[in-house]
Amino acid sequence: MQTQIVIIGGGPSGLLLAQLLQGRGIDSVVLERKTKDYVLGRIRAGVLERGLLDLMREAGVAERMDKEGIPHNGTLISHGDEMFRIGFTEHTGHAVMVYGQTEVTRDLYEAREKSGGKIEFNVENVRIHDADRDAPYVTYEVDGESRRIDCDFVAGCDGFHGISRHTIPTDVRREYEKVYPFGWLGILSETPPVNHELIYATSERGFALCSMRNENLSRYYIQCSLDEKAEDWSDDAFWAELKRRIPADQAAKLVTGPSIEKSIAPLRSFVTEPMRWGRLFLCGDAAHIVPPTGAKGLNTAASDVNYLFRGLTDFYENGSTAGIDGYSEKALARVWKVERFSWWFSSLMHRYPDQTDFDQKMQWAELEFLRSNDAAQKAMAENYVGLPYD
Ligand code: APR
Ligand code: PHB
Repeated sequence: MQTQIVIIGGGPSGLLLAQLLQGRGIDSVVLERKTKDYVLGRIRAGVLERGLLDLMREAGVAERMDKEGIPHNGTLISHGDEMFRIGFTEHTGHAVMVYGQTEVTRDLYEAREKSGGKIEFNVENVRIHDADRDAPYVTYEVDGESRRIDCDFVAGCDGFHGISRHTIPTDVRREYEKVYPFGWLGILSETPPVNHELIYATSERGFALCSMRNENLSRYYIQCSLDEKAEDWSDDAFWAELKRRIPADQAAKLVTGPSIEKSIAPLRSFVTEPMRWGRLFLCGDAAHIVPPTGAKGLNTAASDVNYLFRGLTDFYENGSTAGIDGYSEKALARVWKVERFSWWFSSLMHRYPDQTDFDQKMQWAELEFLRSNDAAQKAMAENYVGLPYD
């Protein structure tokens, strides 16, 4: 088989890239290790930055998002019973959209199927060959049968556990990592959200987040220790702990109900450099991970897709290699700024097991500065709505 771009991974990064390329007549094949149902069964964050909204529109997959997504003009930050708001629109002129990542992925699959774009599911043993030469190819197996696709370029969109990153030789690749000493226990419940805007809460007992998917589907999280198990938490215990971490007036109006999903996610910051090796480009979780505080995972994947898409179209339409040659540097410059924001917001809001009284005072001072300082709020808002793709 022959195509222009082999895209490894059918998560949101791979599918969005495929759809954007298709819109410009550039052919690709997506190789996904799992099934579509499996990919759509993963629950991830649900806040979309303005850049991603624009990309979805450019890819022609924004119709349902624009109809069902909920624009958010600000967010709330609480500290014990104190709460303050950071207005996005007033500080930046932009809003974010609450629309689940699962829905984004569903819309992308639907568009891919409608347009007849090729996706192979259940692929095994994907290997990238000759990425550092002029004629790369990818081999894989489906149902025990070996296949080969020759291509111009390979996009490694296969997430943190994928193989693409490991194709880059160890003497070229550098990895940076921070693992946080806690996790997030999250539940999804068919209840109305406690508040019409998200609440990021910090308290003596740790972090909590009140988020949502729609007016009758709520997503809540509490910071937990890494040795806890989701099945050891009853719904009642979860709701009781959440109520202790959010302001009393919010706790009083919280509507509880049975959870329809409950899981624990670890928190990690991770970056691979470079994001390009020859004709292989890494995109999204394949190259970097952020802790979920601030919901930057999918959004950062989208900014990589944006740079790669522009670079590839410039190559095919104008014969210029400037965009693809500059991809790694450009993508990483933005990735590191988002890593900083996610790390800063995580560090501000969580209780650390080894935290000293001094460390705690620093968190309080930082929160108090954010509450009272317009410039600090503007910086927070600019990061939250998404830094520009320049
Ligand atoms: N071969 C083929 N596909 C693979 C392989 C492989 N060897 N390894 C992984 N995959 C697939 C996974 O099954 C998954 O569907 O690649 C896809 C990667 O998707 P994500 O992990 O969702 O990563 P990405 O598309 O970059 O999306 C980034 O989604 O995962 C969240 O937190 C992440 O919000 C961020 C965003
Ligand atoms: C979510 O709705 O799952 C969510 C929202 C905001 C975050 C993280 C997760 O910062």
